Amino acid sequence: MDDVELVKEKINIVDLISEYLPLKKAGVNFKTNCPFHSEKTASFVVSPERQIWHCFGCQKGGDVFTFLIEKEGMEFKEALEMLAKKAGVVLQKRTGDKKDSKDRLFEINLKAQEFFHYILTKHKLGKNALEYLEKRGLRPETIKEFGIGYAPNSWESLSKFLRKRGFTTEEIVTSGLGVASKSGCYDRFRGRITFPLFDGKEKLRGFSGRVLIPTEPKYINSPQTPIFDKSSFLFGLNLAKSQIREKKEVILVEGEMDMIASYQAGFKNVVASKGTALTEGQVDLIKKYSENLILGFDMDLAGDSASRRGIEIADKSGLDIKVIQLSGGKDAAEVIRENPALWQSAVEEAMPIYDYYLTSIAKRYDSKNPSDLKKIGEELIPIWAKITDDLVRERYIQRLSAFLKTEEKFMRDAVEKARQQPLKSYTGLLKKANLSDNIVSTKSRRELLEEYLITLLLHPPSESNFVPFFPETLFLAEKWRQLFVYLVLYLDSISFKSRSFNINEFVLDLPKELLAEVDRLYLMELDDRLMDDKSWKKELESVVSELKKALIKASLERLSLEIRNAQEFDKIDVMENLNKRFRDLSVKLKNL
Ligand code: CTP
Ligand code: MN
Repeated sequence: MDDVELVKEKINIVDLISEYLPLKKAGVNFKTNCPFHSEKTASFVVSPERQIWHCFGCQKGGDVFTFLIEKEGMEFKEALEMLAKKAGVVLQKRTGDKKDSKDRLFEINLKAQEFFHYILTKHKLGKNALEYLEKRGLRPETIKEFGIGYAPNSWESLSKFLRKRGFTTEEIVTSGLGVASKSGCYDRFRGRITFPLFDGKEKLRGFSGRVLIPTEPKYINSPQTPIFDKSSFLFGLNLAKSQIREKKEVILVEGEMDMIASYQAGFKNVVASKGTALTEGQVDLIKKYSENLILGFDMDLAGDSASRRGIEIADKSGLDIKVIQLSGGKDAAEVIRENPALWQSAVEEAMPIYDYYLTSIAKRYDSKNPSDLKKIGEELIPIWAKITDDLVRERYIQRLSAFLKTEEKFMRDAVEKARQQPLKSYTGLLKKANLSDNIVSTKSRRELLEEYLITLLLHPPSESNFVPFFPETLFLAEKWRQLFVYLVLYLDSISFKSRSFNINEFVLDLPKELLAEVDRLYLMELDDRLMDDKSWKKELESVVSELKKALIKASLERLSLEIRNAQEFDKIDVMENLNKRFRDLSVKLKNL
């Protein structure tokens, strides 16, 4: 058994999570409100038997380690060390020194940062750069707080400096500070103002560099390295995070200078992406600190499909999004430089994202022009369809209809059509909290029923020795079909020995892909009434018959198409045959 397994065995997940959250017993599991997204009904579930947790709202989940990684923002190594201490496990020294080489990269970055900062603030080589920053309104304290520096316009001054301090050429190249060349490496950042890229935990992951004399590209960044990934990085988080928590709001701007300007002017709950549309990684990061996102970009976000996708990611993850409107093509830094009060009012007057979409449409299209009208529909209806809150969606359907001077009913139908068919009225006793919003909106009723049936089978009442009697063809989804077969084999074996269902025994022989699904469904909370053998069987039968009905209905639809075809081509005998099958199936459906 390795360290990780040993620690996992000794730590009880329920005890660990109880230190952070008030867990309440719910059937075989425990539950509470999810700490990773805001919710009113508890959908965060912990299974003591499986030693896992899962949130049915935001779909996060995992084991004791992932919990600490998510909750405390720890690295895996830190989580392992902390839990090992708790469990009294002495960790074996890791043979692979991958972790150490990462530490070396953080060290080399810090050394480079010292070098750049010294050049900017103390050395004559940095004089022009310092003047430039002062001209842009940066105060000396700000330059110090952000650790801004200057990379001299030379091919190897940094590389030489780092080698003298014991770093190898390989390390310099891996860190991205140097670029490999025939004779070793040369400096990546030359003649540029450098911004150290600290993450939310003050770890120096890389650098960006802005030119002093206008050339292209204006900015360069550290390449992807073992410790830097531009796409899930937010600039300024280390300095802004406490203010973000306090104000319960985060302003997102487009680059280093915008972020620094806002921060310096006293609007400190601000971070910057690096000129790219929002990514999933960044959204996850933001969500750790706040639910309210205010976008302060200088471009038309609605007119840009990458931005729209980014916003969709943020919206889906439950962030409340507003947009700052900057006039005259100015970016945050320019507005603040002109008048900080202007920035303040722009932030205060930030518009809810859907209003913003409407104003953007009004600017870009002429709704009296039919081809523009079509484009507006194509652009906004899918967005409107994704608004999860009914009241909000209805409000914006009204607003859009008014703007386009169309009938509300027409717009409502179009939006409804674009929405995926959600589960409407299934009387299943699967607790609402687990199924609300998230799953319902993304899966069809059929998929949900299949899932629910498996969930039921995974929660037999304790005295049950039930073995399913229906065929696996009832499931259309391949994974449920497979899982169902495993389940039947297992249930059959225990009923034979008249032993009761044991989840850990069942998962022993299960392939890995299916295990994850079983864990998810096993955490679903079922209605208490289903602990009773009779109600459980009744529920099971009703789901099975629902599924059968759905299958028959699908066949009927196919048949009626074929019948129509046959009619069209006057194929009388074929039609007779089809009609008969149609009647038979209809009867079968009625009798279910
Ligand atoms: N950016 C980048 N690589 C580039 C260009 C831009 O990483 N080749 C990022 C930088 O973080 C930059 C942001 O995108 O801050 C926005 O770019 P841009 O609007 O061109 O620059 P500004 O932020 O306005 O820069 P400045 O105010 O310094 O002129
Ligand atoms: Mn700018």
